[in-house]
Amino acid sequence: MALAVVTTAHHFRRACQEARLEGELALVPTMGFLHAGHQSLIQAAGQRAPTVAVTIFVNPAQFGPGEDLSRYPRDLAGDLRKCEEAGAHVVFAPEGEREIYPPGFQTHVEPGLLAAPLEGEKRPGHFRGVCTVVLKLFALSRADAAFFGEKDYQQFRVIEQMVQDLNVATEVVGRPIVREADGLALSSRNAYLSAEERGRATALWKALGAARSAFRSGEHGAAQLEELAAKAIAESGLRLDYAAVRDPVALQRPQRADGKSRLLLAAFLGKTRLIDNGALGEAQ
Ligand code: PAF
Repeated sequence: MALAVVTTAHHFRRACQEARLEGELALVPTMGFLHAGHQSLIQAAGQRAPTVAVTIFVNPAQFGPGEDLSRYPRDLAGDLRKCEEAGAHVVFAPEGEREIYPPGFQTHVEPGLLAAPLEGEKRPGHFRGVCTVVLKLFALSRADAAFFGEKDYQQFRVIEQMVQDLNVATEVVGRPIVREADGLALSSRNAYLSAEERGRATALWKALGAARSAFRSGEHGAAQLEELAAKAIAESGLRLDYAAVRDPVALQRPQRADGKSRLLLAAFLGKTRLIDNGALGEAQ
């Protein structure tokens, strides 16, 4: 099937309706500037359903004032090539913000407790913007399943909870982080890094490795593991935003970590904010 590119909500709804007559539909919501991580989501979606729809929309509602909305990287032609290469069938690239937020738009999704700490605390309103646009994309597509990368682990959990709380029929599927050979988690924001910064950007991966190895050696105290990761990040010259050990479901801080507890990290490298995370019990 050739790649169909639609630019209006109306045409996206229609394309998805037609696809669903043939079988299941899997959705991959993105903000574009696609990389191999997005392509792995598209491929996983293709294993799940005969039709894969990708959305490309830099969602202003999830950026705070002073964040990188105006400079967020964009490359629609490259994105379409990568979608096709990865096996997508439909791409929805709204021709303007008004396709998603028309004049008079006034209803938002307010996520709860899961959205309060970590990214939610550092980026007020972020998850409200994410949930609102994702619910709209679910409503337009009526996808059977939607695929999200676990680099944004809290986002994945917040969306899973939204779907459960609001009885949305779309199944939310989380997929493992895709990394560069040196461990850096793929992210569209890596494009902001200078060559010198790129060299130091593995600090989060190294901090995760240090915490994992301490965990394996018997250090299970959440506070101690957080401190160790924070120290590793600071020593690489990055400015720590948070290093948090959390249970993988409620994202609450355990006294003592187990192998499934996740270490979630955020740090600034120059002006670029990087995030990463992983389960403490996983090998690295
Ligand atoms: O993860 C992202 O790229 C975005 O937060 C999403 C899920 C596409 C919503 O805009």
